[in-house]
Amino acid sequence: MSTAAAPVPPARHTDATPPPRPPSPHRLASGPQGADALRPLLATVLDALHTGDRTRGGPLPAGGPEAVTARIREAVGDVLPEDGDPTALAVLVHAFAEHAADPAHPLCAAHLHCPPLAVATAADLAATALNPSLDSWDQAPAATALETLVTRALARLAGAADALVTTGGTEANQLALLLAREAHGPGVRLVTGANAHHSLTRAAWLFGLPEPVVLPAPAGTLDPAALEEALTRLPGPVLVAATAGTTDAGLVDPLPEIAARCAAHHARLHIDAAYGAGLLFSDRHRTTLTGLDAADTITLDLHKLGWQPIAAGLFAVKNPDDLAPLGQRTDYLNADDDTDAGLPDLLGRSLRTTRRPDILKIAVTLKTLGRTGLGALVDQVCAHARHFAALVDAHPRFELHAPPTISTVLFRPAHTTDATVAAVRRTLLTEGRAVLGRARLDGRLWLKATLLNPHTRPEDLATLLTLVEGHTPR
Ligand SMILES: Cc1ncc(COP(=O)(O)O)c(C=O)c1O
Repeated sequence: MSTAAAPVPPARHTDATPPPRPPSPHRLASGPQGADALRPLLATVLDALHTGDRTRGGPLPAGGPEAVTARIREAVGDVLPEDGDPTALAVLVHAFAEHAADPAHPLCAAHLHCPPLAVATAADLAATALNPSLDSWDQAPAATALETLVTRALARLAGAADALVTTGGTEANQLALLLAREAHGPGVRLVTGANAHHSLTRAAWLFGLPEPVVLPAPAGTLDPAALEEALTRLPGPVLVAATAGTTDAGLVDPLPEIAARCAAHHARLHIDAAYGAGLLFSDRHRTTLTGLDAADTITLDLHKLGWQPIAAGLFAVKNPDDLAPLGQRTDYLNADDDTDAGLPDLLGRSLRTTRRPDILKIAVTLKTLGRTGLGALVDQVCAHARHFAALVDAHPRFELHAPPTISTVLFRPAHTTDATVAAVRRTLLTEGRAVLGRARLDGRLWLKATLLNPHTRPEDLATLLTLVEGHTPR
């Protein structure tokens, strides 16, 4: 046995004198000085968020697009000045916050646009600072391992086997159509309801698929009898896309009936649960999604009912082999010999190349709140919707479309025209008083309240109704 001393590994940094500290705007967000560089900047950002919110004082800025554009132009000044301006962070973040539509304001309730949890937002900062990119393992060792664990767990929650991270529901729906085309050939035809999200028919156009069949959905959901008739009539392979949580009304298609018809006709089934998937966290509301596990592919989106900063989409598959067509080889990212040597091959987990670790904020949220913590938030927003619907229903000057299924309430002032409904919404927007959506259902225009803020109080909902009433001409 040799008695020679073990070789000393080379020092990781051979230059004994540290490099000179760069001027503060040139400092980097990660590395040994990253936290020190960020700390004062974060204090500036947090102060500007606070002062911006206070100056706005409502859910969105008053004055409409013209006023906002003028104010932002003034704050930016020269977009690319010859010399830098150290106050840019404070000035622009303040203006950005002051002129934002803040989804955390209880009167901001138009879209599937949730207020993100602080803990998720903080985690997202770490993702941004370290800047891993999930197109190769050598750029994202931790993110790779985390994404693998978390996507599998979320896929299992939805009754699927694997899931990819997407930029949202649109990209997930696009993957559903692309993989249906790969599985069934370019003649596969999309059959969906008029209640489905526009990204589905757009994806059919994008991928050159046959003209989709869009079935009327007068009740707001896909009618299984109309689907049966279409499946019987149509030649060739079919992809049926059902919706669990419609954009306009938060309705859930009759998933078990649709799944049974797809099975009988050997049609592939995609379920767009971009909105509804969050119900999976709730003991009380999970059964609304009964039948979801029959889908071949599922869209989930935690920047809707999941309190994540954008982006936080997922695309789940029942059969992991369906993902094979996304495989791609390029020597600089996943050379065969690297893969053979055990480096994970990630390129086939997205159509994107450079890809943010959106999984970190999701993982932190799941672990911090747990399923029951997230389920409680789901239960709260669903309860808010029921409460708001009850207020509308009890009010003689309002009409309720239907009791809510998730957290969307459609309502309108009674005895008014569609033009008045549209004008009320725009006036509330331009005065900066409330952000409500709009939806056309049953041939009429409705105001849409999409309630995604778990901390909204009953009095906020009463205020919302009073505001609409006050802005409706008698
Ligand atoms: C049912 C449904 N699917 C898909 C989408 C698209 O999601 P994203 O905007 O995240 O792309 C939406 C958006 O609201 C939606 O409501």
